[in-house]
Amino acid sequence: MRVVGISGSPREGGNTEIMVKEALEGARQSGAEVEFVGLAGKRIGGCEACAECGKGGRCVIEDDMQPIFPRLVGADVVVIGSPIYFGMVSAQTKALLDRTYFLSKSGRKLEGKVGAVITVGGRAGHELSAAYLMDFMTLQGMILPGRAFAQSYSRELGAAAKEEKALRDARSLGERTVKLALKLAGPERKAEAKLP
Ligand SMILES: Cc1cc2nc3c(=O)[nH]c(=O)nc-3n(C[C@H](O)[C@H](O)[C@H](O)COP(=O)(O)O)c2cc1C
Repeated sequence: MRVVGISGSPREGGNTEIMVKEALEGARQSGAEVEFVGLAGKRIGGCEACAECGKGGRCVIEDDMQPIFPRLVGADVVVIGSPIYFGMVSAQTKALLDRTYFLSKSGRKLEGKVGAVITVGGRAGHELSAAYLMDFMTLQGMILPGRAFAQSYSRELGAAAKEEKALRDARSLGERTVKLALKLAGPERKAEAKLP
């Protein structure tokens, strides 16, 4: 069982990263292999609507999204975390989501994966941002557990590390995604993943 957690924050060591890593820790303790992907320092352009992915089966934009595609495809669970910027997900997160158009066009490659979302912001925009991320996931055919989101209300760099309730929620989210993915997996997959 593989779980990939993405932080769409441009800040390394930021609150989104802390929350996503906590969700991954919950998943790891539930027996999954986990991988963190941070967008800080990465260059990911928006989808250019060139339609090449529909023809050639690959995204022709050569940037830092290329190594992320196989990680998404290889995961059973995808957790996406974003800081809130002016009431919505960050531009970095949005660019990543739009680029997954390619995965949709090349055989609905995210379909059936379990998804969960994390939003981070000191004040406003959690509901809208989480609803947007969850809507993205359902459009991609992903499956969400009940209460598929966790929130951090931290603002200053690294403050989420002390936000106990948010960390607990993130960890529980990671655990619950693995539980759901296990329910969806057939007995053979479970045995192969050496999970209970
Ligand atoms: C450009 C910008 C816009 C922001 N807009 C909001 C906002 O609308 N609502 C909010 O709650 N926080 C807002 N914030 C605060 C960040 O969401 C907050 O600092 C968060 O902890 C950043 O996450 P990070 O540490 O992972 O980068 C904004 C921050 C920036 C830089």
